[in-house]
Amino acid sequence: MDECYRESADLIRSQIFATRTTPASVRAAITSVPSAERDAWLDRVFELDELPDDGPDLPRDCVPYLPCSVDALLRIVEHAGVQPSDVFVDVGSGLGRAAALVHLLTGAPAIGLEIQRTLVQASRALTTRMKLSRLSFVEGDAARLTGFIAIGSVFFLNCPFSGGRLKKVLDELEPIARTRPIRICCVDLPLPPCPWLTLGSQPSGNIAIYRSSYAASVAPQGGDD
Ligand SMILES: C[S@@+](CC[C@H](N)C(=O)[O-])C[C@H]1O[C@@H](n2cnc3c(N)ncnc32)[C@H](O)[C@@H]1O
Repeated sequence: MDECYRESADLIRSQIFATRTTPASVRAAITSVPSAERDAWLDRVFELDELPDDGPDLPRDCVPYLPCSVDALLRIVEHAGVQPSDVFVDVGSGLGRAAALVHLLTGAPAIGLEIQRTLVQASRALTTRMKLSRLSFVEGDAARLTGFIAIGSVFFLNCPFSGGRLKKVLDELEPIARTRPIRICCVDLPLPPCPWLTLGSQPSGNIAIYRSSYAASVAPQGGDD
């Protein structure tokens, strides 16, 4: 990485420590780095080194840790319209890198659900190291946990699993979507047909943003359909 980008990563890290960043300043800092350098740049900001090994607590039919690219996260934040009033939920949150970046880019609080204990511990260490607040991580199987995160409004799935677990997550999100609109952002994860979800946008071949299609008026009227 060019020396000037190393310096800008170190500068933004010190500004995060001092709580002197805004979503706009974080976005400006990232977009001033060439696309090909952005992931290494963010790893330097967060002081992340090598990819961790996956542990025995990763079920055989689930997907190992592979971080989402910064560019994909920029697209998701833009196309899902993530606002400070949202709650961003990373379903299978790995090292917490995506949740932390989306939080910094938007001001939205973020919650990560992760099955691998060492990754949850690393995510909490990242939160402490970067002095971030409004970022939390829950250890466990996201297929069982997601339905409990009723405050979530934007659910992010960078292909943590498919099949029965994915169906269970969608089944658990449906009652939440009946109370208010939610968005589901998928990377490399085609969703099975789901009558209450509409494909909102597809900012690139492997990213899809779905929006719940229950009328926002369902909850205030207090009724079931
Ligand atoms: C492809 S990585 C995505 C990491 C992160 N969301 C990102 O985009 O940078 C998938 C993550 O999901 C986690 N995972 C897989 N199955 C899971 C499950 N059943 N419950 C919770 N986390 C799971 C893996 O441990 C891994 O960290």
